[in-house]
Amino acid sequence: MTELTAEPAAAERAAAERGRLMPMLFGAMHAQVLHTLTRLGVADRLADGPATARQLASGTGTQPAALYRLLRAGAALGLFALDGERFELTEGGRLLCADAPGSIRNLVLLFGGDAVWRSWGRLEYSVRTGQTAFEQVTGLPTFEYLAAHPDEEAVFNAAMAEHTREVAPAIAARCPLDGRGRVADLGGGNGALLAGLLTANPGVRGVLHDTASGLRDAERVLTEAGVRDRCEIVTGDFFDSVPEGCDAYVLKSVIHDWDDEAATRILRRCREAMAPGAVLYVAEPVVPDDPTRLADAAGTLMSDLNMLVCAGGRERTEGEFRSLLARAGLRLDGVARCDPPVNYWVLAAGGAGT
Ligand SMILES: C[S@@+](CC[C@H](N)C(=O)[O-])C[C@H]1O[C@@H](n2cnc3c(N)ncnc32)[C@H](O)[C@@H]1O
Repeated sequence: MTELTAEPAAAERAAAERGRLMPMLFGAMHAQVLHTLTRLGVADRLADGPATARQLASGTGTQPAALYRLLRAGAALGLFALDGERFELTEGGRLLCADAPGSIRNLVLLFGGDAVWRSWGRLEYSVRTGQTAFEQVTGLPTFEYLAAHPDEEAVFNAAMAEHTREVAPAIAARCPLDGRGRVADLGGGNGALLAGLLTANPGVRGVLHDTASGLRDAERVLTEAGVRDRCEIVTGDFFDSVPEGCDAYVLKSVIHDWDDEAATRILRRCREAMAPGAVLYVAEPVVPDDPTRLADAAGTLMSDLNMLVCAGGRERTEGEFRSLLARAGLRLDGVARCDPPVNYWVLAAGGAGT
């Protein structure tokens, strides 16, 4: 009796697990459906109204029958509705349009694009060697590669901003700036977060610091956000120095790009620049120490692998942040989680001994 009941239960469990694992495997195909539709500009073409595969093929330089199959697969993923032979954008499909609110167009182009895609295909190389697959695939460290490929850098910067724009209000809510005159966003890209911080704090002035290529779109982003008149844009290298004497410093999604040694150097430059009483806010995902919480942190752990494969950095636990800050002469004063669904924590640090 025992055997009879045990066997079907094991088979059922295996079938359920297969049902859970198979979509993970085919997720790679889903990502390329999104990517190819985006590269072809299909969503932007459908923004004005539905069209058939034949109509879309003539404008996209594609073979009508093959494009039909791609569109049909996109419909299966909920990107289009089919009205007879015409494909119509759904709310999800609209997020692939360049100017849609909440667009993920550049994130799709970045993560489905050649350099990142091929790097993830070499995850095994990174795990075997501890080295960055991106560098093996492209021949250059990430930010050097981007600086040498302006089209891809524009996509990278826009992708960062697409993500940061969405999380900026939640992060700003965890970075109190009351009474603080000047906040510097280091490695702040095109200013999507600084715009959010200054919008939330009308009395505060901002300094946006990044490399020349990282700042390429900053003028436009800060102007469109209506905060350009309260902002200084400073070109520099945060391994050399960062703007001095600000009352608050912010590093969002910067420290996780780097290994401990490089991250410590950035934090030291912050420590040296901070006036007495200044605060440093580090906004990043935090890896849970508790192994029973790992399943809830799957997104953070995928990002950790992305840092291994594409950047040479890592996501960190609170304890790891504490040690890193201490190595740079900083003291962790508090950790605040952003309101879900935003998967970021803000770690507040001050100068040790101040
Ligand atoms: C992952 S992005 C994050 C951008 C922005 N903080 C955000 O969260 O949207 C990392 C940023 O660090 C900048 N960066 C890389 N190396 C740098 C350096 N040596 N000095 C200053 N900024 C640098 C990049 O240009 C890029 O804007």
